[in-house]
Parts: sequence; structure tokens; C-alpha cells
Amino acid sequence: MNFYVLTLFPDLIHAAANTSITGRAIRNGLLSVETVNIRDYSVHGSMRVDDYPYGGGAGMVMEAEPVWQSVRAVEEKLGHRPRVVYLTPQAEVLDQTKTEQLAQEEELILLCGHYEGIDERVLEEVVTDYISIGDYVLTGGELAAAVLIDAVSRFIPGVLHNEDSAQFESLQDNLLEYPHYTRPEVWHERAVPSVLLTGDHARVEEWRLEQSVRRTAERRPDLLRAAWKTQVIWHGGEEEETLAQRLCRAMSRYGQLWNYGRRKLQKEKRHFTENDVLLLLVPGGSSAEDPSPAERYRNLSGENTPLIVLTVDRAKAEDAPETEPCAYAQESVCFLQDRGFDLLSRETIARDAGEEILRRMTIEIRSNLGLLFKNK
Ligand code: 6GU
Repeated sequence: MNFYVLTLFPDLIHAAANTSITGRAIRNGLLSVETVNIRDYSVHGSMRVDDYPYGGGAGMVMEAEPVWQSVRAVEEKLGHRPRVVYLTPQAEVLDQTKTEQLAQEEELILLCGHYEGIDERVLEEVVTDYISIGDYVLTGGELAAAVLIDAVSRFIPGVLHNEDSAQFESLQDNLLEYPHYTRPEVWHERAVPSVLLTGDHARVEEWRLEQSVRRTAERRPDLLRAAWKTQVIWHGGEEEETLAQRLCRAMSRYGQLWNYGRRKLQKEKRHFTENDVLLLLVPGGSSAEDPSPAERYRNLSGENTPLIVLTVDRAKAEDAPETEPCAYAQESVCFLQDRGFDLLSRETIARDAGEEILRRMTIEIRSNLGLLFKNK
């Protein structure tokens, strides 16, 4: 990932980026952070880049031309036009899903404003994304750009050590992290929660989820209202199983997997709420499969539970064109829509889909779900 930061204070950007984890990533060649000093493109002999606002009022406004020339300089160097992010408090607030989305880009231009802002006309011309880092006002966009670079970098493979990879964090489920403990076992007469000493991985995970939910309810009830639980239902063979597992992990730290090839599960009544999200993985190809969707999913019910149906394309590699719609998937959609599920989207996924394809797909799904749940 290559960041190009357009700024009046390049030192601030380099000081932040070259420190700690991002600094190591830059030295390891996983990341680059270049700055363009907007002042170098001043149209005045005095190096001035601001002027009085039309209509009067307090403060100064950054002129359009130096900003325009700075963007052009990067575009010409690259030979294409990357996304241009303008850091401003007049924007949607950066969250983990948006951060992960930005991490999919090869290059990003970050534009830092100062004074009262930048001439609106150049913003209309060049900016693709407006991003704020919180509902307060900073003196300039540099600290916000540094924050964005730090948060995005954590998603770049190799920047973090694999076991603490950003994609396995609870925040991707709109949940705060559970509490952490290290030695000694008793400190100032306070013992570590005993479940953490049992070595029972499943129970530890259960406890952590419970703690995350409790903590989010206490500290960030707004987040909890926009949280959902990922439920992946699949059937088929080994390939579907592997894909379902990978999908579940890419979607959520706390997702649940159900193998609906098993008669036992088909027999159990299972109700999903409006805070669940159902991902249905259906093998492509055969339509006369036994049992039929009405039979297989007969005991499932939802209450406006969002439904995403994924057809596994068994015949083709991931870059092949889509095949004809799968009748089994279509029948499943019709059946589940009558049982309280709301179809959000349908996708086709190659049986050998690579990590990147899977990642892009799940980011897209989570981003759509984010919008859906925010508007509830
Ligand atoms: Cl992105 N820029 C400025 N100047 N102030 C902010 C901000 C950005 N986000 C929150 N406050």
C-alpha cells in the first residue's frame, strides 16, 4: 500500500508514520508513505497558499490551484488516478469496515486541509471520499491522516503478526474487545477469571464473547444496536465445508457454522432474530438435489433476518464468467422469504476462490449490512 499525503506539514506525517509498527512496515517494504508539500505549488512568489474567503468571515481558505497541482503531480507520477480522501470533520466518521475497505486499494491520496478549509471547487473536482475521524475539530487534517494510515496499515498482510491480525478483531462485529490478563495469576488480591486457566478453548471463546457483549452494552450501546451475529448454513461436500469455514471467519470473529447436510440439524427448529444474519451456501450445478430446499430448511424461521445466498460455482475457476442461475438457490430464496428472511444479496463464489476474492466479498457484505443496521 502506497500513501501519498498532500500537506503543509510533511514532518508531522513522517514522524507518525516512521514510528512503531507502521515504521517497521515501511522499512520492510510493505507500506510507503510519501508526502507532497502543497506549498511547493504556491501560485505566489511568497509561497502563500491561502486567501481571504469570498463573502467575508473569519479565517483563511486554502486556494484551489496548489491543491489541484499537488493531486496532478501524484497522478502523473503514477499514471493513473487513485482515490483521493479529504480528511475533514464535515464527513462520515471512519469505522473499521471503511478502514478495511480502504486497505484494499493499492494507492491512496490523502488530502490534509488547514485554516478554515479548502476552496470547494477543487474538492468537487478531485475528492472521491470525505472522511472524519470523530466529532470534534482539529487544527488540520494531518493527525487525522496519520490515524487513517495507522488503522488501514493494520489490514495489510504482514504488518501485524498473523496471530493478532486485524481481521479477527471483535470490532468487525461491532463489539468491543473483551478484557485481557497476563501473569501473575493473582495481583493485589485480584485473581484472573478462572475460565482463562482451564485451557478449554471453546469455553474461553464463549466467555470472551459474553464479556465483549456486556462491555459494549455498558460503554457503547450505540454500537451494540448495530451489531449482528453471523450464521453460516451450508451443505455439500468437502469443498463447501472449507469454503463455509473460510467465509465464516472472514465475516466475523464470532460467527456460527451449521452443516445442513446433517438430517439431525434439519429436524431441529431454529429461529433467527433480526440481529442475526444468515449466509446460505448452496452448491451450484444440480437443481434436482435431495432433499429439496422446502425439506432441508423446513424448520428454519426468521424475523426480517437478512439473508445472503452464495452459490458455489463448482465447475469453473474464479476468473471464469458466471454460469446460469442455480435453481436450488432460487428455490431456497423463495422458500426462506416466506419464512421471515429478507434477501439482501445473491452472489456466486468459485469453489477455489482465493483469499483476496473472499475478503472483498465479505467486506462488501459487511459494508451493506452496516448500512442496513445503522438505519434501523
Ligand atoms: Cl479529518 N480533520 C480535521 N481538521 N478535524 C477533524 C477531523 C479531520 N476529524 C475530526 N476532526
